[in-house]
Amino acid sequence: MNVYDSERISDVLGGLKSEPTALPADAELIILNTCHIREKAAEKVYSELGRLRQIKAERAERGETTMIAVAGCVAQAEGQEIIARAPVVDLVVGPQSYHRLPELMAKVRDEGRSVVDTDFPEEDKFGHLPERPVISRRASAFVTVQEGCDKFCTFCVVPYTRGVEYSRPAADLVAETERLVDQGVREITLLGQNVNAYHGEGPDGSSWTLAKLLRRLARIDGLARLRYTTSHPRDMDDDLIDAHGELDQLMPYLHLPFQAGSNRILAAMNRKHDTDDYRRIVERLRAARPDIALSTDIIVGFPGEADREFQETMTLVRDVGFAEAYSFKYSPRPGTPASTMTDQVPEDVKNTRLQELQALLRAQKSEFNMSCIGSRMPVLFEKPGRLADQMVGRSPYLQPVHAYVSDDAVGEVLQVEIKAAGPNSLEGKIVSGSDLNSRAAAE
Ligand code: 5AD
Ligand code: SF4
Repeated sequence: MNVYDSERISDVLGGLKSEPTALPADAELIILNTCHIREKAAEKVYSELGRLRQIKAERAERGETTMIAVAGCVAQAEGQEIIARAPVVDLVVGPQSYHRLPELMAKVRDEGRSVVDTDFPEEDKFGHLPERPVISRRASAFVTVQEGCDKFCTFCVVPYTRGVEYSRPAADLVAETERLVDQGVREITLLGQNVNAYHGEGPDGSSWTLAKLLRRLARIDGLARLRYTTSHPRDMDDDLIDAHGELDQLMPYLHLPFQAGSNRILAAMNRKHDTDDYRRIVERLRAARPDIALSTDIIVGFPGEADREFQETMTLVRDVGFAEAYSFKYSPRPGTPASTMTDQVPEDVKNTRLQELQALLRAQKSEFNMSCIGSRMPVLFEKPGRLADQMVGRSPYLQPVHAYVSDDAVGEVLQVEIKAAGPNSLEGKIVSGSDLNSRAAAE
Protein backbone atom coordinates (compact mmCIF):
# COMPACT_ATOMS: atom_id res chain seq x y z
CA MET A 1 0.00 0.00 0.00
CA ASN A 2 2.89 2.39 0.59
CA VAL A 3 3.98 1.91 -3.04
CA TYR A 4 0.47 2.89 -4.13
CA ASP A 5 0.39 5.82 -1.69
CA SER A 6 3.79 7.10 -2.86
CA GLU A 7 2.50 7.03 -6.42
CA ARG A 8 -0.56 9.02 -5.44
CA ILE A 9 1.64 11.50 -3.55
CA SER A 10 3.69 12.05 -6.70
CA ASP A 11 0.43 12.53 -8.65
CA VAL A 12 -0.40 15.37 -6.22
CA LEU A 13 3.08 16.87 -6.66
CA GLY A 14 2.86 16.52 -10.47
CA GLY A 15 -0.04 18.98 -10.23
CA LEU A 16 2.44 21.45 -8.70
CA LYS A 17 4.58 21.15 -11.83
CA SER A 18 7.36 19.40 -9.95
CA GLU A 19 9.53 16.62 -11.36
CA PRO A 20 11.36 13.75 -9.69
CA THR A 21 15.16 13.98 -9.30
CA ALA A 22 17.55 11.05 -9.55
CA LEU A 23 19.40 11.97 -6.35
CA PRO A 24 18.11 13.28 -3.02
CA ALA A 25 20.90 15.92 -3.12
CA ASP A 26 19.15 17.53 -6.12
CA ALA A 27 15.71 17.65 -4.54
CA GLU A 28 13.98 20.70 -3.10
CA LEU A 29 11.46 18.41 -1.49
CA ILE A 30 12.11 14.99 0.02
CA ILE A 31 9.25 12.88 1.37
CA LEU A 32 9.84 9.72 3.37
CA ASN A 33 6.78 7.48 3.19
CA THR A 34 7.03 5.36 6.30
CA CYS A 35 5.85 2.11 7.89
CA HIS A 36 5.15 1.60 11.61
CA ILE A 37 4.24 -2.09 11.58
CA ARG A 38 7.41 -3.27 13.35
CA GLU A 39 10.05 -1.38 15.33
CA LYS A 40 12.72 -2.07 12.70
CA ALA A 41 10.72 -0.33 9.97
CA ALA A 42 10.04 2.68 12.18
CA GLU A 43 13.67 3.02 13.32
CA LYS A 44 14.87 3.04 9.69
CA VAL A 45 13.13 6.40 9.32
CA TYR A 46 15.41 8.02 11.88
CA SER A 47 18.62 6.67 10.35
CA GLU A 48 17.42 7.93 6.96
CA LEU A 49 16.64 11.33 8.48
CA GLY A 50 20.23 11.46 9.77
CA ARG A 51 21.50 11.12 6.19
CA LEU A 52 19.02 13.71 4.95
CA ARG A 53 20.16 16.19 7.62
CA GLN A 54 23.60 16.09 6.02
CA ILE A 55 22.16 16.62 2.54
CA LYS A 56 20.02 19.53 3.70
CA ALA A 57 23.09 21.18 5.29
CA GLU A 58 25.18 20.75 2.14
CA ARG A 59 22.39 22.18 -0.01
CA ALA A 60 22.04 25.13 2.39
CA GLU A 61 25.76 25.86 1.90
CA ARG A 62 25.05 26.11 -1.82
CA GLY A 63 22.17 28.50 -1.06
CA GLU A 64 19.52 25.88 -1.84
CA THR A 65 16.51 25.20 0.36
CA THR A 66 15.22 21.70 1.12
CA MET A 67 11.87 20.77 2.57
CA ILE A 68 11.79 17.40 4.33
CA ALA A 69 8.50 15.67 4.97
CA VAL A 70 7.65 12.45 6.81
CA ALA A 71 4.47 10.78 5.53
CA GLY A 72 2.80 7.44 6.30
CA CYS A 73 2.13 5.54 9.50
CA VAL A 74 5.20 6.65 11.50
CA ALA A 75 3.98 10.20 10.86
CA GLN A 76 0.51 9.22 12.03
CA ALA A 77 1.73 7.41 15.16
CA GLU A 78 4.48 9.77 16.31
CA GLY A 79 3.32 13.19 15.01
CA GLN A 80 5.05 16.06 16.80
CA GLU A 81 7.53 13.64 18.42
CA ILE A 82 9.24 13.22 15.04
CA ILE A 83 10.15 16.89 14.93
CA ALA A 84 11.34 16.80 18.53
CA ARG A 85 13.63 13.88 17.71
CA ALA A 86 14.63 15.04 14.21
CA PRO A 87 14.32 18.85 13.94
CA VAL A 88 15.43 18.59 10.29
CA VAL A 89 11.82 17.60 9.47
CA ASP A 90 9.59 20.42 8.17
CA LEU A 91 6.35 18.56 7.64
CA VAL A 92 4.67 15.52 9.18
CA VAL A 93 1.65 14.23 7.26
CA GLY A 94 -0.51 11.21 8.08
CA PRO A 95 -1.86 8.75 5.47
CA GLN A 96 -5.30 10.38 5.41
CA SER A 97 -4.04 13.85 4.44
CA TYR A 98 -1.94 13.40 1.28
CA HIS A 99 -4.40 15.39 -0.78
CA ARG A 100 -3.62 18.39 1.46
CA LEU A 101 0.12 18.32 0.70
CA PRO A 102 0.12 21.48 -1.51
CA GLU A 103 -1.53 23.61 1.20
CA LEU A 104 0.62 22.07 3.96
CA MET A 105 3.80 22.79 1.98
CA ALA A 106 2.64 26.38 1.39
CA LYS A 107 2.03 26.71 5.13
CA VAL A 108 5.57 25.53 5.95
CA ARG A 109 6.97 28.01 3.44
CA ASP A 110 4.74 30.96 4.40
CA GLU A 111 4.92 30.57 8.15
CA GLY A 112 8.57 29.48 8.25
CA ARG A 113 7.87 26.74 10.80
CA SER A 114 7.27 23.02 10.86
CA VAL A 115 3.73 21.70 10.39
CA VAL A 116 2.07 18.49 11.62
CA ASP A 117 -1.17 17.12 10.11
CA THR A 118 -2.28 13.80 11.55
CA ASP A 119 -6.04 14.43 11.58
CA PHE A 120 -8.54 12.05 10.08
CA PRO A 121 -10.29 14.64 7.94
CA GLU A 122 -14.02 14.39 7.28
CA GLU A 123 -13.52 14.77 3.54
CA ASP A 124 -12.72 11.72 1.45
CA LYS A 125 -9.05 11.73 0.51
CA PHE A 126 -9.70 9.73 -2.67
CA GLY A 127 -12.25 12.28 -3.87
CA HIS A 128 -9.58 14.98 -3.57
CA LEU A 129 -6.64 13.19 -5.18
CA PRO A 130 -6.01 14.01 -8.84
CA GLU A 131 -6.92 11.51 -11.55
CA ARG A 132 -4.03 9.08 -12.07
CA PRO A 133 -1.74 10.23 -14.89
CA VAL A 134 -0.68 7.90 -17.69
CA ILE A 135 2.43 5.88 -16.86
CA SER A 136 3.51 4.37 -20.14
CA ARG A 137 4.14 0.67 -20.65
CA ARG A 138 2.92 -0.52 -17.33
CA ALA A 139 1.56 -4.05 -17.17
CA SER A 140 0.33 -4.11 -13.60
CA ALA A 141 -1.09 -1.54 -11.18
CA PHE A 142 -2.50 -1.31 -7.67
CA VAL A 143 -5.90 0.11 -6.79
CA THR A 144 -6.73 0.76 -3.13
CA VAL A 145 -10.30 -0.34 -2.51
CA GLN A 146 -10.38 -0.30 1.27
CA GLU A 147 -8.30 1.22 4.04
CA GLY A 148 -8.09 0.79 7.78
CA CYS A 149 -9.08 -2.09 10.01
CA ASP A 150 -11.60 -2.78 12.77
CA LYS A 151 -10.15 -6.13 13.83
CA PHE A 152 -7.77 -4.93 16.55
CA CYS A 153 -5.38 -7.86 16.68
CA THR A 154 -3.56 -7.21 19.95
CA PHE A 155 -0.11 -6.97 18.31
CA CYS A 156 -1.02 -4.58 15.50
CA VAL A 157 -0.83 -0.81 15.06
CA VAL A 158 -2.89 -0.66 11.85
CA PRO A 159 -6.28 0.13 13.46
CA TYR A 160 -4.58 3.08 15.19
CA THR A 161 -2.48 4.42 12.29
CA ARG A 162 -4.84 3.76 9.39
CA GLY A 163 -8.02 4.17 11.40
CA VAL A 164 -11.38 2.45 11.08
CA GLU A 165 -12.37 0.54 7.99
CA TYR A 166 -13.40 2.59 5.02
CA SER A 167 -14.40 1.16 1.62
CA ARG A 168 -14.38 3.24 -1.56
CA PRO A 169 -17.58 3.30 -3.65
CA ALA A 170 -17.63 0.56 -6.32
CA ALA A 171 -18.36 3.00 -9.17
CA ASP A 172 -15.13 4.94 -8.41
CA LEU A 173 -13.14 1.68 -8.47
CA VAL A 174 -14.67 0.56 -11.75
CA ALA A 175 -13.88 3.96 -13.28
CA GLU A 176 -10.28 3.97 -11.94
CA THR A 177 -9.72 0.42 -13.22
CA GLU A 178 -11.21 1.23 -16.65
CA ARG A 179 -8.90 4.24 -16.98
CA LEU A 180 -5.86 2.11 -16.11
CA VAL A 181 -6.89 -0.59 -18.59
CA ASP A 182 -7.36 2.07 -21.29
CA GLN A 183 -3.74 3.08 -20.59
CA GLY A 184 -2.60 -0.48 -21.26
CA VAL A 185 -2.57 -1.96 -17.74
CA ARG A 186 -3.42 -5.69 -17.89
CA GLU A 187 -3.38 -6.67 -14.22
CA ILE A 188 -4.96 -4.96 -11.23
CA THR A 189 -4.18 -5.80 -7.62
CA LEU A 190 -6.89 -4.58 -5.28
CA LEU A 191 -5.40 -3.32 -2.04
CA GLY A 192 -6.62 -2.95 1.49
CA GLN A 193 -5.33 -3.68 5.00
CA ASN A 194 -8.37 -5.91 5.26
CA VAL A 195 -9.32 -6.13 1.61
CA ASN A 196 -11.86 -8.94 1.85
CA ALA A 197 -13.82 -6.94 4.42
CA TYR A 198 -14.62 -4.60 1.51
CA HIS A 199 -18.18 -3.29 1.77
CA GLY A 200 -18.30 -0.29 -0.54
CA GLU A 201 -21.43 1.36 -1.80
CA GLY A 202 -22.60 -0.17 -5.08
CA PRO A 203 -24.07 1.85 -7.96
CA ASP A 204 -27.51 0.58 -6.88
CA GLY A 205 -27.07 1.95 -3.36
CA SER A 206 -26.58 -1.51 -1.79
CA SER A 207 -23.37 -2.56 -0.07
CA TRP A 208 -21.07 -4.55 -2.36
CA THR A 209 -18.80 -7.34 -1.17
CA LEU A 210 -15.33 -7.97 -2.56
CA ALA A 211 -16.70 -10.94 -4.53
CA LYS A 212 -19.27 -8.71 -6.19
CA LEU A 213 -16.63 -6.09 -6.98
CA LEU A 214 -14.32 -8.74 -8.48
CA ARG A 215 -17.13 -10.10 -10.66
CA ARG A 216 -17.85 -6.60 -11.95
CA LEU A 217 -14.18 -5.78 -12.64
CA ALA A 218 -13.71 -9.11 -14.43
CA ARG A 219 -16.17 -7.85 -17.08
CA ILE A 220 -13.81 -5.01 -18.10
CA ASP A 221 -12.56 -5.69 -21.60
CA GLY A 222 -8.79 -5.98 -21.82
CA LEU A 223 -8.26 -6.65 -18.11
CA ALA A 224 -6.38 -9.96 -18.07
CA ARG A 225 -5.68 -10.47 -14.38
CA LEU A 226 -7.11 -9.63 -10.98
CA ARG A 227 -5.51 -10.10 -7.57
CA TYR A 228 -6.28 -8.78 -4.09
CA THR A 229 -4.33 -8.44 -0.87
CA THR A 230 -4.33 -8.64 2.22
CA SER A 231 -7.17 -10.83 3.43
CA HIS A 232 -8.38 -11.92 6.86
CA PRO A 233 -9.60 -15.54 7.31
CA ARG A 234 -12.74 -14.29 9.05
CA ASP A 235 -13.89 -12.44 5.91
CA MET A 236 -13.21 -15.29 3.46
CA ASP A 237 -16.90 -15.87 2.63
CA ASP A 238 -18.35 -18.58 0.36
CA ASP A 239 -19.06 -16.17 -2.47
CA LEU A 240 -15.43 -15.01 -2.52
CA ILE A 241 -14.18 -18.61 -2.45
CA ASP A 242 -16.58 -19.48 -5.32
CA ALA A 243 -15.24 -16.52 -7.31
CA HIS A 244 -11.85 -18.26 -7.31
CA GLY A 245 -13.44 -21.18 -9.13
CA GLU A 246 -15.45 -19.03 -11.54
CA LEU A 247 -13.43 -16.03 -12.65
CA ASP A 248 -10.66 -16.76 -15.17
CA GLN A 249 -9.13 -13.36 -14.46
CA LEU A 250 -8.80 -14.03 -10.73
CA MET A 251 -5.29 -15.44 -10.36
CA PRO A 252 -4.79 -18.70 -8.41
CA TYR A 253 -2.78 -17.13 -5.62
CA LEU A 254 -3.99 -15.91 -2.24
CA HIS A 255 -2.19 -14.16 0.58
CA LEU A 256 -4.01 -15.26 3.73
CA PRO A 257 -2.18 -14.56 7.00
CA PHE A 258 -2.74 -16.98 9.89
CA GLN A 259 -0.14 -15.47 12.29
CA ALA A 260 0.12 -18.43 14.69
CA GLY A 261 -0.61 -22.16 14.81
CA SER A 262 -1.72 -22.35 18.44
CA ASN A 263 -5.36 -21.66 19.31
CA ARG A 264 -4.39 -20.24 22.70
CA ILE A 265 -2.04 -17.74 21.03
CA LEU A 266 -4.61 -16.91 18.33
CA ALA A 267 -7.11 -16.06 21.06
CA ALA A 268 -4.53 -13.90 22.87
CA MET A 269 -3.89 -12.19 19.53
CA ASN A 270 -7.66 -11.52 19.22
CA ARG A 271 -7.53 -13.02 15.73
CA LYS A 272 -11.19 -14.11 15.76
CA HIS A 273 -10.33 -17.42 14.03
CA ASP A 274 -8.74 -20.69 15.10
CA THR A 275 -6.55 -23.17 13.27
CA ASP A 276 -9.52 -25.35 12.27
CA ASP A 277 -11.23 -22.36 10.65
CA TYR A 278 -8.04 -21.76 8.68
CA ARG A 279 -7.71 -25.37 7.59
CA ARG A 280 -11.36 -25.44 6.48
CA ILE A 281 -10.95 -22.26 4.40
CA VAL A 282 -7.88 -23.71 2.70
CA GLU A 283 -9.76 -26.92 1.95
CA ARG A 284 -12.67 -25.00 0.40
CA LEU A 285 -10.34 -22.78 -1.61
CA ARG A 286 -8.55 -25.82 -2.99
CA ALA A 287 -11.87 -27.45 -3.85
CA ALA A 288 -12.87 -24.32 -5.79
CA ARG A 289 -9.49 -23.82 -7.46
CA PRO A 290 -7.26 -26.90 -7.09
CA ASP A 291 -4.06 -25.19 -8.26
CA ILE A 292 -4.37 -22.20 -5.91
CA ALA A 293 -1.01 -21.23 -4.36
CA LEU A 294 -1.09 -19.88 -0.83
CA SER A 295 0.95 -17.25 0.91
CA THR A 296 0.78 -16.17 4.54
CA ASP A 297 2.12 -14.01 7.38
CA ILE A 298 3.39 -15.59 10.57
CA ILE A 299 4.59 -14.10 13.85
CA VAL A 300 6.91 -16.00 16.19
CA GLY A 301 7.45 -15.14 19.85
CA PHE A 302 4.12 -13.50 20.63
CA PRO A 303 4.00 -12.91 24.44
CA GLY A 304 3.59 -16.20 26.29
CA GLU A 305 4.28 -18.43 23.25
CA ALA A 306 5.68 -21.70 24.58
CA ASP A 307 7.94 -24.01 22.57
CA ARG A 308 5.18 -26.51 21.97
CA GLU A 309 2.89 -23.68 20.79
CA PHE A 310 5.54 -22.57 18.33
CA GLN A 311 5.71 -26.21 17.16
CA GLU A 312 1.98 -25.99 16.39
CA THR A 313 2.86 -23.16 13.98
CA MET A 314 5.38 -25.49 12.32
CA THR A 315 2.71 -28.21 12.09
CA LEU A 316 0.19 -25.89 10.44
CA VAL A 317 2.82 -24.78 7.90
CA ARG A 318 3.68 -28.41 7.17
CA ASP A 319 0.02 -29.40 6.81
CA VAL A 320 -1.04 -26.50 4.55
CA GLY A 321 2.08 -26.00 2.43
CA PHE A 322 2.88 -22.47 1.29
CA ALA A 323 4.26 -21.15 -1.99
CA GLU A 324 5.33 -17.94 -0.24
CA ALA A 325 5.36 -16.62 3.32
CA TYR A 326 6.42 -13.59 5.33
CA SER A 327 7.52 -14.36 8.86
CA PHE A 328 8.44 -11.99 11.65
CA LYS A 329 9.64 -11.87 15.22
CA TYR A 330 6.96 -10.32 17.41
CA SER A 331 7.77 -6.64 17.85
CA PRO A 332 6.04 -4.79 20.72
CA ARG A 333 4.32 -1.69 19.33
CA PRO A 334 3.47 1.31 21.49
CA GLY A 335 -0.21 1.57 22.37
CA THR A 336 -1.12 -2.02 21.45
CA PRO A 337 -2.45 -4.41 24.13
CA ALA A 338 0.22 -7.09 23.53
CA SER A 339 3.06 -4.65 24.17
CA THR A 340 2.19 -4.51 27.87
CA MET A 341 1.70 -8.26 28.33
CA THR A 342 4.12 -9.42 31.00
CA ASP A 343 5.34 -12.67 29.48
CA GLN A 344 7.44 -11.28 26.60
CA VAL A 345 9.56 -13.91 24.86
CA PRO A 346 13.35 -13.39 25.01
CA GLU A 347 15.02 -12.19 21.81
CA ASP A 348 17.26 -15.25 21.45
CA VAL A 349 14.24 -17.58 21.63
CA LYS A 350 12.48 -15.52 18.95
CA ASN A 351 15.62 -15.72 16.79
CA THR A 352 15.86 -19.50 17.08
CA ARG A 353 12.17 -19.98 16.29
CA LEU A 354 12.30 -17.63 13.32
CA GLN A 355 15.28 -19.49 11.86
CA GLU A 356 13.59 -22.85 12.25
CA LEU A 357 10.39 -21.56 10.67
CA GLN A 358 12.13 -19.78 7.81
CA ALA A 359 14.13 -22.90 6.92
CA LEU A 360 10.85 -24.80 6.51
CA LEU A 361 9.24 -21.97 4.52
CA ARG A 362 12.27 -21.68 2.23
CA ALA A 363 12.12 -25.41 1.56
CA GLN A 364 8.39 -25.26 0.75
CA LYS A 365 8.88 -22.31 -1.60
CA SER A 366 11.75 -24.06 -3.37
CA GLU A 367 9.74 -27.23 -3.68
CA PHE A 368 6.83 -25.30 -5.16
CA ASN A 369 9.12 -23.59 -7.69
CA MET A 370 10.74 -26.92 -8.64
CA SER A 371 7.31 -28.49 -9.15
CA CYS A 372 6.66 -25.95 -11.93
CA ILE A 373 9.52 -27.27 -14.11
CA GLY A 374 8.16 -28.83 -17.29
CA SER A 375 4.74 -27.20 -17.05
CA ARG A 376 3.36 -24.46 -19.31
CA MET A 377 1.82 -21.36 -17.87
CA PRO A 378 0.68 -17.91 -18.99
CA VAL A 379 3.14 -15.17 -18.00
CA LEU A 380 2.33 -11.46 -17.91
CA PHE A 381 5.52 -9.66 -18.97
CA GLU A 382 6.34 -6.56 -16.97
CA LYS A 383 9.86 -5.28 -17.55
CA PRO A 384 13.33 -5.97 -18.98
CA GLY A 385 15.44 -8.54 -17.15
CA ARG A 386 19.12 -8.20 -16.30
CA LEU A 387 20.36 -9.90 -19.47
CA ALA A 388 20.00 -8.58 -23.04
CA ASP A 389 16.67 -9.51 -24.70
CA GLN A 390 15.49 -11.01 -21.44
CA MET A 391 12.17 -9.97 -19.90
CA VAL A 392 10.66 -10.64 -16.50
CA GLY A 393 7.02 -11.38 -15.98
CA ARG A 394 4.81 -13.04 -13.41
CA SER A 395 3.32 -16.50 -13.40
CA PRO A 396 -0.30 -16.93 -12.27
CA TYR A 397 1.22 -17.89 -8.89
CA LEU A 398 3.11 -14.57 -8.68
CA GLN A 399 6.56 -16.09 -9.24
CA PRO A 400 8.91 -13.92 -11.31
CA VAL A 401 9.56 -15.67 -14.65
CA HIS A 402 12.56 -14.84 -16.87
CA ALA A 403 12.37 -15.54 -20.60
CA TYR A 404 13.99 -14.37 -23.83
CA VAL A 405 11.51 -12.18 -25.65
CA SER A 406 11.67 -8.72 -27.22
CA ASP A 407 10.75 -5.84 -24.94
CA ASP A 408 7.60 -5.22 -26.99
CA ALA A 409 6.15 -7.90 -24.78
CA VAL A 410 5.53 -5.52 -21.84
CA GLY A 411 1.87 -6.01 -20.97
CA GLU A 412 1.48 -9.22 -22.96
CA VAL A 413 0.39 -12.56 -21.55
CA LEU A 414 2.40 -15.27 -23.30
CA GLN A 415 2.51 -19.03 -22.83
CA VAL A 416 5.83 -20.09 -21.32
CA GLU A 417 7.31 -23.52 -20.77
CA ILE A 418 9.19 -23.57 -17.47
CA LYS A 419 12.72 -24.95 -17.89
CA ALA A 420 14.41 -24.15 -14.59
CA ALA A 421 13.63 -22.95 -11.09
CA GLY A 422 15.62 -21.08 -8.45
CA PRO A 423 14.72 -20.30 -4.84
CA ASN A 424 12.91 -17.11 -5.87
CA SER A 425 12.13 -17.27 -9.57
CA LEU A 426 11.56 -19.39 -12.67
CA GLU A 427 13.11 -19.47 -16.11
CA GLY A 428 11.27 -20.47 -19.25
CA LYS A 429 10.89 -20.45 -23.00
CA ILE A 430 8.06 -18.76 -24.88
CA VAL A 431 5.88 -21.32 -26.63
CA SER A 432 3.18 -19.02 -27.99
CA GLY A 433 3.80 -15.68 -29.63
CA SER A 434 0.33 -14.24 -29.30
CA ASP A 435 -1.27 -12.63 -26.30
CA LEU A 436 -3.47 -15.26 -24.66
CA ASN A 437 -5.88 -12.77 -23.23
CA SER A 438 -6.24 -10.32 -26.11
CA ARG A 439 -9.56 -10.36 -27.91
CA ALA A 440 -7.79 -11.39 -31.13
CA ALA A 441 -6.48 -14.52 -29.42
CA ALA A 442 -9.90 -15.33 -28.01
CA GLU A 443 -11.64 -15.00 -31.41
N1 5AD B 1 5.24 -7.69 15.33
C1 5AD B 1 5.58 -8.54 14.34
N2 5AD B 1 4.89 -8.66 13.21
C2 5AD B 1 3.78 -7.89 13.06
N3 5AD B 1 2.88 -7.80 12.07
C3 5AD B 1 1.97 -6.88 12.41
N4 5AD B 1 2.24 -6.36 13.62
C4 5AD B 1 3.37 -6.99 14.05
C5 5AD B 1 4.13 -6.91 15.23
N5 5AD B 1 3.80 -6.08 16.23
C6 5AD B 1 2.93 -8.64 10.88
C7 5AD B 1 1.68 -9.50 10.75
C8 5AD B 1 0.95 -8.84 9.62
C9 5AD B 1 2.07 -8.29 8.79
C10 5AD B 1 1.71 -7.22 7.82
O1 5AD B 1 2.99 -7.80 9.73
O2 5AD B 1 2.09 -10.81 10.40
O3 5AD B 1 0.13 -9.75 8.90
FE1 SF4 C 1 -3.58 -5.62 11.87
FE2 SF4 C 1 -4.44 -7.31 9.96
FE3 SF4 C 1 -5.17 -7.68 12.54
FE4 SF4 C 1 -6.16 -5.59 11.15
S1 SF4 C 1 -6.52 -7.81 10.74
S2 SF4 C 1 -5.39 -5.53 13.26
S3 SF4 C 1 -4.39 -5.04 9.88
S4 SF4 C 1 -3.08 -7.81 11.66
